[in-house]
Amino acid sequence: MEIVVVENYDEMSDVACSVVEETVKTNPSCVLGLATGSTPLGLYERMVRGYREGKVSYQNVKAVNLDEYIGLPASHPQSYAFFMREHLFSKIDILPGNTHIENGMATDENAECARYNALLDSMPRDLQVLGIGSNGHIAFNEPLTPFESETHTVALAESTVKDNSRLFERIEDVPRRAFTMGLKNIMDARRILILANGANKANAVYGLVKGEVTTALPASILQKHPNVVLVCDRAAAQRLGE
Ligand code: GLP
Repeated sequence: MEIVVVENYDEMSDVACSVVEETVKTNPSCVLGLATGSTPLGLYERMVRGYREGKVSYQNVKAVNLDEYIGLPASHPQSYAFFMREHLFSKIDILPGNTHIENGMATDENAECARYNALLDSMPRDLQVLGIGSNGHIAFNEPLTPFESETHTVALAESTVKDNSRLFERIEDVPRRAFTMGLKNIMDARRILILANGANKANAVYGLVKGEVTTALPASILQKHPNVVLVCDRAAAQRLGE
């Protein structure tokens, strides 16, 4: 795993953006796996800036998102579909038909998981962007998710509901379940860019880099991937010297 420790969130986002832009310049029709959450917001701002400055075009890029809350329609401001349109897709030249995410309103959940797995198989990710949960989850693969998992539905850990409640008016409004790409789907990406900032991620980052590879800390599986770059700020990296 390549580890880049930077001073702060802005620097983390700068480095992340250069990795993404490099990928797109090398292969203008690449497939990007994208994440939601506060962590990649700075990255997305910079991707929009790079596009507006004419440095990069996303016209032939395809995007596949990690996860979506069950029960929220794509028009709901807290859905991840909305998040992606709001922060990235509506501001760059990616074609809406080339952006993919699970349908949080799917009535047949098994069929939706099968549809998404087939889509993922047909579109191997050249670069997968990831954040990390404070309990070491990636996408919504909570502790004890099998490493062999593919797209599935999950009941969110209480700590995740709490972490994510800051984006909702009330904690009761946070959906308790989600669709998520599985750990195997994530590991299928050719390259993985994982971002972490802030002291509340320090334990998760420690487990990701130095901990035992265990389903108790889902991100630790990334130690087995041949091409991972972790970009994190000093606060998130604080335990790496131990
Ligand atoms: C959510 C998402 C993850 C994300 C994590 C961290 O649960 N499903 O993909 O990495 O939270 O979020 P944040 O970046 O806001 O800390």
